[in-house]
Amino acid sequence: MTVENVWFSYVRGNPVLKGVTLSASPGEVVAILGPTGCGKSTLLTIMAGLMRPDEGRVLVNGEDLFGNIKALRRHIGLLFQDPEHQLFNATVYDEVAYALRTMGMPEDEVRRRVLRVVEELGIRELLDRRPFKLSVGEKKKVALASVLSYDPEVLLLDEPTANLGARDEALIISTLVKARRAGKTVVMASHDLEFVFRVADKAYIMGNGTIKAVVKGEDVIKPEVLDAVGLTPPLITMVAEHFRISYEEIASLTRVTEEHERQEQSLKLGTKAHASSFDTVASNHGDKGGG
Ligand SMILES: Nc1ncnc2c1ncn2[C@@H]1O[C@H](COP(=O)(O)OP(=O)(O)O)[C@@H](O)[C@H]1O
Ligand SMILES: [Mg+2]
Repeated sequence: MTVENVWFSYVRGNPVLKGVTLSASPGEVVAILGPTGCGKSTLLTIMAGLMRPDEGRVLVNGEDLFGNIKALRRHIGLLFQDPEHQLFNATVYDEVAYALRTMGMPEDEVRRRVLRVVEELGIRELLDRRPFKLSVGEKKKVALASVLSYDPEVLLLDEPTANLGARDEALIISTLVKARRAGKTVVMASHDLEFVFRVADKAYIMGNGTIKAVVKGEDVIKPEVLDAVGLTPPLITMVAEHFRISYEEIASLTRVTEEHERQEQSLKLGTKAHASSFDTVASNHGDKGGG
């Protein structure tokens, strides 16, 4: 997916996006980092085809998104920053089934897919509940399930870890790793540097409606990078500087790679036969937090 020189204003003469250009390839997890109000959600909403840019283009597989919006939109899934904006069905089941039904899928296939995705995200027991009565974390997982259900090629995730606990954050990380392995294009907005550091291949650093820099995911916690774009270093950076731990070492300890996933899965196989990769990462993450 490519964004070319996108401009956007909510109020005439007061642009929120001022010529944003970026690209994300299949099998790549790309982060958009930046302070609140810099335009990340606006950009993702445009990339999902929900708002038209005033100027510039969005290309999906080389095709102009707004030239063929009906066909291309089903290749794109957007997880809204606020899941409240995404949930409107009477039950969680109907919520997760909604997009599939809209696509005209037969009901037995709908059921198969709904059950698979709620199993993966560990929310099967929520199926009969009313979405608007769930906790924020549960709502976020239901909203994510409603996006993953139709298996879009492009995943746009707006602050996917905001308001989530450690276990749910691990679930998100695992979802990202799986998506990358499946060759999906993932673009996520976040202001959580450590989360971006752990999973992103590439990060666009945004400020005030423009892209200030693009860096490798493992570089987003380096002081020289943060200085250059005016972001406050996270705790991990201060600890690394104080104890003179190299950033390569931190990366090898905490970056979630394919190798990590494989090791964790094989470790877990013996102890918990039915564990999905999600459970595996989640519990390991928890162990680290506690120890
Ligand atoms: N619906 C809207 N109407 C008017 N202004 C908006 C609207 N949504 C967002 N904005 C403004 O656009 C700017 C960028 O917002 P947003 O894209 O939500 O940034 P971010 O996601 O990086 O926090 C902010 O100044 C915000 O107040
Ligand atoms: Mg936002």
